[in-house]
Amino acid sequence: MPRRQHITVFAILALFAFIGTSFVLMFRSQPQGADYPGPTSQEPVLVDNEILLGTATAPKLENETLKAELGNAAWKVLHTTMAKFPDKPTEEDSQALKSYIHLFARLYPCGECARHFQQILAKFPPQVATRSTAAAWACHVHNEVNKSLKKDLFDCSKIGDFYDCGCADDGPVKGKEKEKEKDGFKQLELEKEG
Ligand SMILES: Cc1cc2nc3c(=O)[nH]c(=O)nc-3n(C[C@H](O)[C@H](O)[C@H](O)COP(=O)(O)OP(=O)(O)OC[C@H]3O[C@@H](n4cnc5c(N)ncnc54)[C@H](O)[C@@H]3O)c2cc1C
Ligand SMILES: *[C@@H]1O[C@H](CO)[C@@H](O)[C@H](O)[C@H]1NC(C)=O
Ligand SMILES: *[C@@H]1O[C@H](CO)[C@@H](O)[C@H](O)[C@H]1NC(C)=O
Repeated sequence: MPRRQHITVFAILALFAFIGTSFVLMFRSQPQGADYPGPTSQEPVLVDNEILLGTATAPKLENETLKAELGNAAWKVLHTTMAKFPDKPTEEDSQALKSYIHLFARLYPCGECARHFQQILAKFPPQVATRSTAAAWACHVHNEVNKSLKKDLFDCSKIGDFYDCGCADDGPVKGKEKEKEKDGFKQLELEKEG
């Protein structure tokens, strides 16, 4: 019957079209991570303790000028990271910060600083439960480095809710902000409403 044949040919063509389209889509589509296109399942990112706590990677940094510049910039990154960390982080946020700190220590480009900082981390494990504990912890470990370099110490109890990274206006900061200069720090004091 010609009508039957028509239907059969159409069905076969439709099947080929479907298979063809599926193939094209399969090879075009990228794995969509929740946050950014991540690695495929063939290349998982494994961040276990061996990776987090392994031997520092960099050699000794001989150039003292570079060492100081690097340190200054790195402290800025670290303190600003804490200042921008969520007030109420998820468990995953906290784990990410903890891993970041350990990798920061391991990969820090001044090798002797990295090894020293890893010892400090072993003694004072990262506090990542909230923004303020993270900020206070960073202040404390900065002072630990300062102690060994015979630099001034900063009173970490005066750190307030966070170090002013100049980015307070876009944060979820409630209450009146008062800026204060102290020991080269601009601090924010948060006043309770009502
Ligand atoms: C992880 C790490 C380990 C290091 N280890 C060594 C080492 O072993 N040997 C060595 O010679 N050098 C080391 N350094 C470098 C050293 O700590 C200094 O950065 C460098 O000597 C320059 O010092 P500085 O006087 O410019 O002040 P820094 O210590 O760099 O600090 C300067 C600025 O940091 C900001 N800051 C400080 N405290 C806070 C706070 N609580 N909250 C917010 N902001 C703050 C302030 O703006 C301050 O002016 C290390 C640096 C880092 C990041
Ligand atoms: C040391 O580092 C500084 C700052 O990065 C750089 O300007 C200088 O040229 C370096 N000195 C040497 C000897 O490499
Ligand atoms: C560490 O030393 C630097 C440089 O002297 C100083 O500005 C800072 O307040 C000290 N302490 C901390 C926690 O940053």
